[in-house]
Amino acid sequence: MNQSTLFTPSWKGIIDCYKKYLPVSDKTPIISLNEGNTPLIFAPHITKLCNIPGLTVYLKVEGANPTGSFKDRGMTMALSKACEEGSKAIICASTGNTSASAAAFAARARANGFQMDCFVLVPKGYVALGKLSQAMIYGAKVVQVIGNFDEALKLVKEIVDKYPITLVNSLNPFRIEGQKTSAFEVCEQLGRAPDVLAIPVGNAGNITAYWKGFCEYLKNDKPKMIGFEASGSAPIFYDKIIEKPETIATAIRIGNPASWKQALSAASESGGFIDIVTDDEIIEAYKILHRDEGIACEPASAASVAGLLKSAKLKKITPESTVVCVLTGNGLKDPDSAIKYSASEAHEVKADVNEIVKLIGF
Ligand code: F0G
Repeated sequence: MNQSTLFTPSWKGIIDCYKKYLPVSDKTPIISLNEGNTPLIFAPHITKLCNIPGLTVYLKVEGANPTGSFKDRGMTMALSKACEEGSKAIICASTGNTSASAAAFAARARANGFQMDCFVLVPKGYVALGKLSQAMIYGAKVVQVIGNFDEALKLVKEIVDKYPITLVNSLNPFRIEGQKTSAFEVCEQLGRAPDVLAIPVGNAGNITAYWKGFCEYLKNDKPKMIGFEASGSAPIFYDKIIEKPETIATAIRIGNPASWKQALSAASESGGFIDIVTDDEIIEAYKILHRDEGIACEPASAASVAGLLKSAKLKKITPESTVVCVLTGNGLKDPDSAIKYSASEAHEVKADVNEIVKLIGF
């Protein structure tokens, strides 16, 4: 084998790859962790479970991003632009993943010689342990607010109005710009656009970003966008602000999403819909993904698959469709949920072959 077959040019992140679609110039410093280029994996078991003739289901595994979620696509843009504009601090409210990503990319900005402080506000007691520890270890100042995400977002909006700190929630348009690149990748990986894109909806930035991406990348044959809220946190579906949102999928425990209108437009313009999935449906899909596909994600991510299974049962998915479910975050983010909802237990045994053989049933 010669060198050219051994070494392919290395991937340098979404800005490097898609700059012609992004608001960057030669003057923009690129703050990157080589995010993006995540796997699109065929899901044979879920395809079968849907029981729709000719259906093919793929999973876009965004948990393979550097901090384990799709937020890295938006954060490389947000931090690159913040550095370009001379900002010295960023802030966000977060259910966990945005804060992990913001903290990591702030560290990366510092590695590139910029001064960059990072402040994150998270709802106390409702952030998965992996995410909280990420924000802490990447050097952010972590503020646990006694209140929910919506309250934390209101607070950060007030802070950025008064102080020279850049907001890096998805209200920051550069976040959406970066996140839309996942739609480009899906089309390139499939060699065509999917017919349906299934996605969890929380603050509604990501559904907005995918739809923007598909609209910019494709002239015709855009996918139907089907978005799923958790039934206890479903303001868009119920068309009213939920004061006390509840769901085991803490990442999407949001009662007043920032991109509410845009999510509705994405669904209606694409011929799709916004629906709800119960916590039980989320847990079932979460277990199926792990046990029957070998793919780990966090509970909120499983809402896309739970939603597809529900829609298939209701015959809302057309035969012969190619469906992509977005798995937004890595399973290792939330070990507590994994253990709590997992079907199997971890057995304890003496260090003895006979005991072990007896236990494993051989
Ligand atoms: N899935 C995961 C794993 C998330 O972390 C989020 C949002 C979503 C889905 C929903 O995406 O908000 O764009 O509709 N997490 C935000 C955060 C709110 O703070 O990490 P969305």
